[in-house]
Amino acid sequence: MRGPVRVGIIGCGSVMQHAYLPLLVNQIAQGAALAPVVCDLREDRLAQVAERCAVASATTDPEAVIADDALDIVLVLTSMREHGDLAERALRAGHHVLVEKPMSVDLEQADRLVELDRTGPAHLLCAPHVLLSPDYQQMARMIRAGAVGRPLLARARYGWDGPDWGQWFYREGGGPLFDLGVYNVTTLTGLLGPCRSVTAMAATSRPTRVVEGEEIAVETEDTYQLVLELGDGALATVTTAFGMQQYESPAVEVYGLDGTIQMLGDDWAPDGLQLWENAVGAWKTYHSRSRYWPWTDGLRHLIDCVRRGERPYTRPDHARHVLEVMLGAMEAARTGVTQQVRSTFEVPAPMPETDRGPLHLIHDRVHEDAQ
Ligand SMILES: NC(=O)c1ccc[n+]([C@@H]2O[C@H](COP(=O)([O-])OP(=O)(O)OC[C@H]3O[C@@H](n4cnc5c(N)ncnc54)[C@H](O)[C@@H]3O)[C@@H](O)[C@H]2O)c1
Repeated sequence: MRGPVRVGIIGCGSVMQHAYLPLLVNQIAQGAALAPVVCDLREDRLAQVAERCAVASATTDPEAVIADDALDIVLVLTSMREHGDLAERALRAGHHVLVEKPMSVDLEQADRLVELDRTGPAHLLCAPHVLLSPDYQQMARMIRAGAVGRPLLARARYGWDGPDWGQWFYREGGGPLFDLGVYNVTTLTGLLGPCRSVTAMAATSRPTRVVEGEEIAVETEDTYQLVLELGDGALATVTTAFGMQQYESPAVEVYGLDGTIQMLGDDWAPDGLQLWENAVGAWKTYHSRSRYWPWTDGLRHLIDCVRRGERPYTRPDHARHVLEVMLGAMEAARTGVTQQVRSTFEVPAPMPETDRGPLHLIHDRVHEDAQ
């Protein structure tokens, strides 16, 4: 394994400071990474990062990061509309890239990004990193092993009241589907296979909001219901909004002809699994293997892959497919017409069971009919 990697970070707002920075500090402490080069258009953000982590250098010019030959990995953690251009330029400069979601807001650019990853020396790792969570992996293994039989329906949801920072979240190229529903579409297509067609309805629950202390017009829909036709014909729904207050429902449910499996918590913060098998006639509840799993885990994974010279587990053609599904859903919501999804991707096989011992079964809840 090679020595510590050099990381450049473009975008030092909320996700960098609250989520990626603690993980990077941990990687630096473990000798896997060196002090980062950081970049943001805002000087105050650079100062906030420098207070919490030793930095190699700080700049307000993203080109200075892209042109820095000493860097191994560039993180693109800006507002969404900037992702595609910055990621493309960093890949063309030969850097491995981790880009927050969505990888781009433009399908043609997403195609170029996939192609650069496929043909060039640099890897592209696209958020969200939900496929890396141990609970996702266990759920995928169980579905593949036939625990619930052939899946016919699935449901996933993720929402909250929405950010009170970043006015761009409420403008074109923002919105809850790109920001939140993207997790669910990634999880469902990972578990059940590529989406063949999508339809959706969307609404705007509040035409104005206060963001960064200022009342702004909400220019994107903030409420979505999607229906996806997946894999072998399973029908799935995704519920997402900037306006949902609380929930206790499972993050993801998959209904098969022989049983049901559900992930508790959120798919970006899983909290265990529940499995119903007709053959058993009882609900089994499994402790989370992901309780301390950070949803920024893609950064650890990419650093690990670069140091080992391996290809990342999650592939950009999956993120590109998810982008097409989301753009199709937006078009369906605008036109009322179900959209065909042309792209596909190879569903990554679940990782082998780790040596962490068997899943911890908390309890069997015997169904009354089965007693
Ligand atoms: N905040 C979260 O909890 C969270 C969680 C998961 C994913 N994300 C994703 O992370 C991304 C960033 O979200 P955020 O909440 O950190 O937004 P933010 O607005 O807090 O931060 C974005 C930062 O990018 C900077 N920026 C924009 N364009 C730039 C450019 N061209 N060069 C350099 N800097 C630039 C802005 O100045 C800002 O500081 C989004 O894609 C979001 O969906 C955020």
